[in-house]
Amino acid sequence: MIRVLFVCLGNICRSPMAEAVFMHLVREAGLENKIEADSAGTGSWHIDSVPHPGTLGILEAKGIPYEGLGRQIKRDDLDKFDYIVTMDDENLRNVRRLGKGRAKVAPLLDYAPHAEIREVPDPYFDGGFDVVYHLVHEGAVGLLAAIRQEHGL
Ligand code: 4NP
Repeated sequence: MIRVLFVCLGNICRSPMAEAVFMHLVREAGLENKIEADSAGTGSWHIDSVPHPGTLGILEAKGIPYEGLGRQIKRDDLDKFDYIVTMDDENLRNVRRLGKGRAKVAPLLDYAPHAEIREVPDPYFDGGFDVVYHLVHEGAVGLLAAIRQEHGL
C-alpha cells in the first residue's frame, strides 16, 4: 500500500479537503487497493474535531464524501507514510522540525507547477474555500499522476 499524509495547521480546513479530493481521484482511477490517504495538523487545537463547515460545504457541493476527524501529526508518521504533503511553508518547516523519516516530504503545489501561487492559503480566518478547493484539486491531480509514474500504476 502507498500511504499519503496531507498536513496543514489545524487539520480542519485544507488537509481534510486535500485528503477527500485525492481519495476521490484515487477511487475514480480504481486504485483504492493500492493508495490510501490520511491527514493531520501540526497544531493540537482540533484533535477529534469534524472539518470546518467551509470544507464540508464544498465537498458536499462536489459530491465528495469525507468522514475523518482532526488529529495531530507525530514523529511516527514520518516513517509510516510514503508521502507527506504540506499546504504551506510553515507546515513544511514544522514537519521538517519533527525530524527525518522514510516519507518524501513536499508541498502540495509542487505537484501543480502551473498554479499561480506556491502555498495553499489558510481559509480559517479569511474564507476563500473556493480558491482552496481549486488549488487542492490541481495539486491532487498532479500528485496522483506523480505517484502513478513513480510506482508504475
Ligand atoms: P487549516 O486551517 O490549517 O487549513 O485546518 C486552520 C484551522 C484552525 C486554525 C488555523 C488554521 N486555528 O487557529 O485554530
